[in-house]
Amino acid sequence: MILITGCAGFIGFHLSKKLLEKKIQVVGIDSINDYYSKNLKLKRLNLLKKYKNFFFGKIDLKNYEKAHEFLKYKKIKQIIHLAAQPGVRISLAKPYNTLNQNLNTFINILEITRIKKIKKFIYASSSSIYGNTKLYPFNELDLKNSPVSVYGATKLSNEIIAQSYSRNFGMKCVGLRFFTVYGPYGRPDMAYYDFSNKLKNNKKIFVFNKGKMLRDFTYIDDVIKGILNVMRKNFKDNHEVINIGKGKPDNLMDMIKYLEKNYKKKFRIKFTNNIPVGDMKKTYSNVNKAKRLINWNPKTTLKTGLEKFAIWFKKHND
Ligand SMILES: NC(=O)c1ccc[n+]([C@@H]2O[C@H](COP(=O)([O-])OP(=O)(O)OC[C@H]3O[C@@H](n4cnc5c(N)ncnc54)[C@H](O)[C@@H]3O)[C@@H](O)[C@H]2O)c1
Repeated sequence: MILITGCAGFIGFHLSKKLLEKKIQVVGIDSINDYYSKNLKLKRLNLLKKYKNFFFGKIDLKNYEKAHEFLKYKKIKQIIHLAAQPGVRISLAKPYNTLNQNLNTFINILEITRIKKIKKFIYASSSSIYGNTKLYPFNELDLKNSPVSVYGATKLSNEIIAQSYSRNFGMKCVGLRFFTVYGPYGRPDMAYYDFSNKLKNNKKIFVFNKGKMLRDFTYIDDVIKGILNVMRKNFKDNHEVINIGKGKPDNLMDMIKYLEKNYKKKFRIKFTNNIPVGDMKKTYSNVNKAKRLINWNPKTTLKTGLEKFAIWFKKHND
């Protein structure tokens, strides 16, 4: 049995579905919070509930007792911990919420891993931990990173806590630093999805730093393949952190161009000079470690990935 936290979320849904298709038993936990459309989370969850090998618990992982009770008799081999409060901007608007979510859930689930003697704990970190380092591409060996957002700070804290647990209690921990993951059933707060909604509703979009922003967009199917390889791999070291990015950033303006092409419609754009506090100008992953350890080989270009997203969006957002 595999435990996936945040199973009704974007990445958790795709990972759960893939494992369920492979006839693996999946225990999913999600609080179904209202950070974005609950409807979308329930839609994902209903698709997962069609599988007989799926067991779901609507639990808020901040509640240790409830989570522990739910998992008491379940024989979990690995945990993939994806539940969190994502988002850089909200972490600056509501810092306490992000700290409370991302630190307390992390400690609780890690403690459950220790008590239940679960051998492998895989968790979501983020490119945000690199902050404003100018050392491109971002390398796991660079220890000078200092996150600029509260969100990034919680993810870096998670890595430090996992490092300590893996060293002291012997479980294998693997932190995955995701870089702008996108695709069908994605997150409505992310630019590609938010802009798609605005285009549909003829609303103006705001483009920061005159569009001179770069993101290492990583397509969901590539990410899921990567996570499966992490699950299969026997790691030598007790704790690893691995960049999960495409290794090739794209311009924000290219993203806009591809969306316009897919929807056959032009954006109304308001360019501004500023970059919102906490946002990074450029994210760019060095993926050598991922290649070496987990045969990481992301193939999907932004153009192809956004085509697939747009097909899904047109069908599901009416
Ligand atoms: N999508 C990306 O581009 C990206 C990039 C970097 C890191 N990440 C990280 O990857 C993970 C998954 O991201 P996502 O894009 O799927 O986000 P998501 O918001 O779609 O999924 C997270 C899920 O966790 C659930 N959740 C939140 N707090 C919870 C709690 N206390 N108890 C139980 N469930 C809770 C939410 O209801 C949600 O369904 C997160 O940890 C996120 O920080 C994502």
